[in-house]
Amino acid sequence: MILVLDFGSQYNQLITRRIREQGVYSELHSHKLTAEEIKRMNPKGIILSGGPHSVYDENSFSCDKEIFELDIPILGICYGMQLMALHYGGHVAKAKNREYGKALIDLNDDTLLFKDTPEHQTVWMSHGDKVLEMPSSFQIDATSPSTPIAAMSDTTRNLYGVQFHPEVRHSEYGNHILKQFVYDACHCVGEWTIENFIDMEVEKIQEQVGNRNVLCALSGGVDSSVVAALIHKAIGDQLTCIFVDHGLLRKNEASEVMDVFADDMQMNILKIDAQERFLSKLKGVSDPEKKRKIIGNEFIYVFDDEAAKLTDIDFLAQGTLYTDIIESGTETAQTIKSHHNVGGLPENMQFELIEPLNALFKDEVRELGTQLGLPDRIVWRQPFPGPGLAIRVLGEVTEEKLTIVRESDSVLREEIAKAGLDRDIWQYFTVLPDIRSVGVMGDARTYDYTIGIRAVTSIDGMTSDWARIPWDVLEKISTRIVNDVQHINRVVYDITSKPPATIEWE
Ligand code: XMP
Repeated sequence: MILVLDFGSQYNQLITRRIREQGVYSELHSHKLTAEEIKRMNPKGIILSGGPHSVYDENSFSCDKEIFELDIPILGICYGMQLMALHYGGHVAKAKNREYGKALIDLNDDTLLFKDTPEHQTVWMSHGDKVLEMPSSFQIDATSPSTPIAAMSDTTRNLYGVQFHPEVRHSEYGNHILKQFVYDACHCVGEWTIENFIDMEVEKIQEQVGNRNVLCALSGGVDSSVVAALIHKAIGDQLTCIFVDHGLLRKNEASEVMDVFADDMQMNILKIDAQERFLSKLKGVSDPEKKRKIIGNEFIYVFDDEAAKLTDIDFLAQGTLYTDIIESGTETAQTIKSHHNVGGLPENMQFELIEPLNALFKDEVRELGTQLGLPDRIVWRQPFPGPGLAIRVLGEVTEEKLTIVRESDSVLREEIAKAGLDRDIWQYFTVLPDIRSVGVMGDARTYDYTIGIRAVTSIDGMTSDWARIPWDVLEKISTRIVNDVQHINRVVYDITSKPPATIEWE
């Protein structure tokens, strides 16, 4: 395992990703880990990440100095290289200006990190301070016009530093440099593959669970589906899933989930039809946050009621991902919307938690799902919010409005798939604003609802841009929606990015 210590750079998760892509397992942890804790984790190498601070700032992040005495190879990136230089007696210059963007570096001979790469190469710089004098035992590996010590190393002690960011794609040989570090400096064996992960996890789950039983809340989303499939592979019928149909799902969604998990995979699933319970709680409520809270709470009550009927359950499985853990650990952001995952469960339940995906990134989870035999329509499912269609019917939720949004969404999905755009657009759906307008159909005046189409490209949902769907596809969607869905006489396309808008309308 390669341990990445987090000093706050926005690229830190990328470092972990790039190392895993080399077939070596890697984890990102706080810079506050002590040398003793690190020793127990037994990493083959340590990467000190970049960070936004200057090493001279009063509150700048530091690490346990004993880390340098562990005799583990270390690579310092940007801020990490400066910390290393200071520790060994070098000098770091405080910057007047930041250097940001592409830079050309020249290599010196005989360097481990840059072995077999061209003498001149492009790298990505993003720093203020820089190392001005190296510690005496180090040699310069690369220079750039504005950063004379762009890379340095002390191979006898297995210490390496780069001022640029090898994890960013713009660093031409960045992957090669990281590979050199993990294989040539740390002597890792590339064993990290999804197949190995399945074998390891199956064994771990079997050992942990023994002959006891596990409960899982299945929503049909990627994470809970994959977690259920993995645990089912490990313990078969000792797993029971609860699938709550709150009546706010998309067209045919509930039956598709049952087809895949109950029929094809022969898993134990309890489908709870709670449509009326949810709809009656939502009656007369139009405030978005109140709607979200009601649905989140009601989900917990329903799940609690059903779980209480089961006996002999010791474990609760959850599809928590690595990013969920990292993000909740550093989250200081203001609440824009109180997100609710169908996996968000009662806190006071007396179960032991099993979270076998908590070391994985989303794309790794998709690969895992495919390896476990889940169909593409589950593995590549677009994100769907826990409160479902209730937050796509703006204002009060009624059965009639749910039908309108469900039917129009189904038309949209069909046409996007027909146009072959379903993997290019990150998320696409329809919303029903609480407005009506005048139209004309077959010579008669209509006074009916407007449907909004929302389609966005995004990496992680934190920011997004509106998708440039070809006009002829939009035209087809619009024509079909007004013709096929009752009570719609107007279709509009949302062309705002996030920020300033959000992806969902509520
Ligand atoms: P917003 O609307 O905040 O959405 O820009 C960002 C992403 O999160 C999804 N979303 C949710 N997902 N529970 C979820 O699991 C929720 O309550 C929730 N609200 C929004 C949204 O669909 C988009 O992918």
